[in-house]
Amino acid sequence: MLKNPRTKYRPFPPIALPERSWPDAVLTKAPIWLSTDLRDGNQALIEPMDIARKLQMFDELVRIGFKEIEVGFPASSQIEFDFLRRLIEERRIPDDVTIQVMTPARPELIARTVESLDGARHAIVHIYNAVAPLWRELVFQMTVPQVMTLVRESVALARRLTDARPSTDWTLQYSPETFSLAELEVSLEACETAIEAWGASRPIILNLPTTVESATPNVFADQVEWMRRRLARHANIILSVHPHNDRGTGTAAAEFALMAGADRLEGCLFGNGERTGNLDLVNVALNLYTQGVDPCLDFSDIDRVKRTVEQCNRLPVPPRHPYAGDLVYTSFSGTHQDAIKKAFALRRDADFWAIPYLPIDPRDLGRTYEAVIRVNSQSGKGGMAYLLATEFGLELPRRLQIEFSRVVQAAMDAQGTEFSAADIFAIFEREYGLRSTPSPRDCRMRQVEDGGQVQLSAQVLIEEDEPITVEGCGNGPVDAFVDGFARGCGEAIRVLSFHEHAIGHGSRAQAVAYLELCVGEEVLYGVGQDSDIVSASLKAIVSGVKRARARGQTSQASGAASPA
Ligand code: KIV
Ligand code: ZN
Repeated sequence: MLKNPRTKYRPFPPIALPERSWPDAVLTKAPIWLSTDLRDGNQALIEPMDIARKLQMFDELVRIGFKEIEVGFPASSQIEFDFLRRLIEERRIPDDVTIQVMTPARPELIARTVESLDGARHAIVHIYNAVAPLWRELVFQMTVPQVMTLVRESVALARRLTDARPSTDWTLQYSPETFSLAELEVSLEACETAIEAWGASRPIILNLPTTVESATPNVFADQVEWMRRRLARHANIILSVHPHNDRGTGTAAAEFALMAGADRLEGCLFGNGERTGNLDLVNVALNLYTQGVDPCLDFSDIDRVKRTVEQCNRLPVPPRHPYAGDLVYTSFSGTHQDAIKKAFALRRDADFWAIPYLPIDPRDLGRTYEAVIRVNSQSGKGGMAYLLATEFGLELPRRLQIEFSRVVQAAMDAQGTEFSAADIFAIFEREYGLRSTPSPRDCRMRQVEDGGQVQLSAQVLIEEDEPITVEGCGNGPVDAFVDGFARGCGEAIRVLSFHEHAIGHGSRAQAVAYLELCVGEEVLYGVGQDSDIVSASLKAIVSGVKRARARGQTSQASGAASPA
C-alpha cells in the first residue's frame, strides 16, 4: 500500500447543501421496494439462474410481499426473454405485482423489450444510460448534449412503442447510471429530459444509483436531497435509489436517502449483486422493523428465505450476516449470555423488546431461542446454567453453577471445541449422576416416639460391589440418612445447603435436589432426581459422597505420581 494514498486517490468532494434537512428526518413508513434479484443480482452470479431457479426466486419474492420485481433484461438473451414470457403466459404474476424489465438506451433493445412484455397487465420499462464524466469521456466519448439527445430519443421511442400497446398499464423508469459519480446538474438535466420525453403527466420513476459506491453515505443523502428539491415541481414522479455496497455502507446510504426524500429502494435479498453487492433489502426492512415500522415485507420465516436465496444464487449467506446469519442469535461471551438470561427471566410477553445484545426477537423471524446461546471456552457459568435451565429444566443454585463451570471448563480445555446444550447436559449427568445414581435399597423409616426423630435404615451402593449399610437417626429423613451414611462409610458428612424444585407437572413430575455437602474435607454438591423429594435428596447425598471419593482417588493418584 502507498505511504501517501493522496497521490493516487482523490477524496470525493462534499456537496454544497448548507440547509440540508435530511439529518433531522425520522423514518416512519416503509418505502416502495423493488427487488432486482432477478436482474442485477442474477447478472452478478458465477452461474446465472436457469429458468427453474428464476421461477423459484420469483415465487419467493411474491411470497415475501414485493409488489415491484425486476425480472430481467429480456433483450439480452433468449433465456431472459423466455423467462419473462413464461411469467406472463402462465399467469404467474399476481394482479397487485408489477414487473420491471431493464434495457440500455438503444433503439433495437428498447423495441425488443417492449415486445417481450406483450400481455402484461402492468409493466415498468427501465431505461438507463451512464451520465458521469468518466463514462462519458472514456467509455462512450459523448458530450453532455449528446447524452441528453440519447435520453430524449430513447424515452420518446419507449413512449411511442408503449402507446401502441394500450392494454398494458405502463410506467417508465429512467436511471442516470453512475449518478453518484456525476455532476448533479447533468443528472438533473437527464431526469428532466426523460420526464419531458415521457410526458409530465404520465407515471415515471427516477432511479438514482450509486453504481459504484464512492463516498460516505451522507454525501449520497445530500445528492438525493439536492435532486428531490429540484424535482419537487413534478407531481407524478417516484424518486427511487439503487445503492451498491462497494464501501460497505449500502444500508446506511439507503436509509439516509430515504431520510433525504427517496420514496423507493432497489436492492437484492441479503445484498447479492455485482462486486460487493447491491443494497441488502432484508437488512433495511428489518432495521425499520426494529424501530417499530412495518416494513410490509414478510420475513417471519427468514431461514426459508435464506435457503431459497442460497439455492437460487448458489452463494452462501455468511454466518454473521445481519438478522439472517446462522450465528447472529448465538452468544459466545459469558457476560452476554448472563445478561440475556437475566433479561429473559424478567421479561413479560407484553413488554417492549429490551433484551441486551439482541436487537430483534429471533422468534419474529422464525428463529428459536435454543440457538441463542452455545458454550465455548470463553463462556461463563451463566451460559451453562441458562442452557440447563431452558433445555432441561434444571435450576442450578449459584454455587453449583460455579462448581460445575469448572468441570465444563476442564472438559472444554481437553476437547477444545464449543459445547451444545446436549453436551453440557451429558457432562452434568456424568459428573453428578443425576439420573444414574441408584436409589437406596430396602429403605425403611419410622418415627421415633418421643422428640419427633426419624430412624432410617437402607442399603446404599457406592461402588458396584460395595453395598453400605446405613442406619441412622435424625430430625428428618435427610438428617437420619446422613447420620447413618457417615457411620456406614466412615466419612464425616454435613449438609451445608439444600435446594430443590420440580420438573414437569402431574403424575410425571420429578423432583430434583441439590445438596451442598461437606464430606470429610471436601465441600461439594450432590444432585439427585426422583419422583419424590425424599428419594431425590438421598440420591443427592449418595451423588456427593461418590464425587468426594472420586476426587479423593484422583488426588491420591496424583499425589502418588508426583515427586515427594
Ligand atoms: O447500478 C446501476 O447503476 C444499475 C443501473 C442500471 C440502475 O444497475
Ligand atoms: Zn446496479
